[in-house]
Amino acid sequence: MKNNCVYIETYGCQMNLADTEIVIGILKSNGYDITEKAECADVILLNTCSVRENAEQRIYGRIGNLKTLKADKPHLILGVLGCMAERLRHELVEDKKVVDLVVGPDEYRNLPSYIDVAFAGEKGIGVKLSRTETYDDIMPYREDGLQAFISVMRGCDKFCTYCVVPFTRGRERSRALDSIINEIKELSNRGFKEITLLGQNVNSYLDGGTDFADLLSAAAMVDRTMRIRFSTSHPQDISDKLLYTIASHPNLCNYIHLPVQSGSNRILELMNRTYTVEHYLGLIDKARKIIPNVSFSTDIISGFPTETEEEHQMTLEIMKKVRYDGAYMFKYSPREGTKAYKMDDDVAEETKTRRLQEIIDLQQTISLEINQSMIGKEEVILIEGRSKKSNEFFAGRADSNKFVIVPVTEGVSEGDYLRVKINRGTSGTLFADFIEKVNPRSDNLALTA
Ligand code: 5AD
Ligand code: SF4
Repeated sequence: MKNNCVYIETYGCQMNLADTEIVIGILKSNGYDITEKAECADVILLNTCSVRENAEQRIYGRIGNLKTLKADKPHLILGVLGCMAERLRHELVEDKKVVDLVVGPDEYRNLPSYIDVAFAGEKGIGVKLSRTETYDDIMPYREDGLQAFISVMRGCDKFCTYCVVPFTRGRERSRALDSIINEIKELSNRGFKEITLLGQNVNSYLDGGTDFADLLSAAAMVDRTMRIRFSTSHPQDISDKLLYTIASHPNLCNYIHLPVQSGSNRILELMNRTYTVEHYLGLIDKARKIIPNVSFSTDIISGFPTETEEEHQMTLEIMKKVRYDGAYMFKYSPREGTKAYKMDDDVAEETKTRRLQEIIDLQQTISLEINQSMIGKEEVILIEGRSKKSNEFFAGRADSNKFVIVPVTEGVSEGDYLRVKINRGTSGTLFADFIEKVNPRSDNLALTA
């Protein structure tokens, strides 16, 4: 008999992408085939995100059009995984009856049984959150490639007042160091060149006496030719030990994603971010002293409840002080169940939009200035493949995570490290000339030039 085929679409953050790989790992070991085409599937799964309102709206739209496939295929099962599951199971399954299966982020191990339940004509519902589930023993399914994401911890205990994650993904728990290191070894053997260690708040990682800095050190030592990145860091929890660890391993990328959210202490307090602007700027200074050439990206929310024009200006001010290499910028959207949901969402939509646009424009200007100031400098980039725009160029990434385009050169292929010289910069891309191929095992190699 032919195996049942599953089609899966992923929305939202890198954690969700990593979860999809876990889900595929579980399904494959239970005899399911994976298909790239929704029309060919017996089971369609959407791994969903709830972090902002527009993410949820997109998913509703998608459920709406996938539902039409049921007309020709009555046995087709439509399921929702991930962050929307817990929040919307009543609405999705009981009220609107649009989906047959709702499985939350801590119940993927039981997904095959829930699918069986759905095939038997019942609704498969598994939305319990766990304090211990880390999927430690499950090898995520990954196609061969250069880059991989590994989730090292799950959940979040920070309870920022705008954020739904502690409710949709539950309490913080860390994976065992050994299982993470084994996964990195396996990826190294398969030729992967870049690993990103993931968690909502990786700095809270703890396995017995092993903290996140220890994990980074151990990860960096698995294979010196592999770059290690991590995300996301909370500004309250970055230790000096972590900064020194990053500085001491050439293959730990000198790049920190450090969400600031707002430049106003009053708003930061309302957000329950537990740090001040002064602490944040102090941390940036310290990191720049300890890690030469470190680059930063951030997350910013515009129009949090009660945010005044002056407080919005403070956000622009902190952006000018830090001069981020990149930023993810959002309009505040109230999320049911969070503390901020009870606050009056009193910043008018057009004001939020205008403030967000000012934030985006400023970041574009800063990114452009930073990128142009790099003209003439050397960088070591990892070649990821051909540029999407032209087959005559390679696309790669610098240690700082900046996107670099370089002409195709004979003898160079995907996965190689190149030393290049920057000759042009836009706000999103650097263009460079080839200098030489570098051997990441040679003694004098630092993966930054
Ligand atoms: N509204 C707008 N942005 C949000 N984020 C999280 N929750 C919300 C919300 N309710 C943003 C934060 C966070 C990023 C992942 O998403 O900036 O760092
Ligand atoms: Fe959400 Fe704050 Fe946790 Fe990030 S640290 S996932 S913003 S609660």
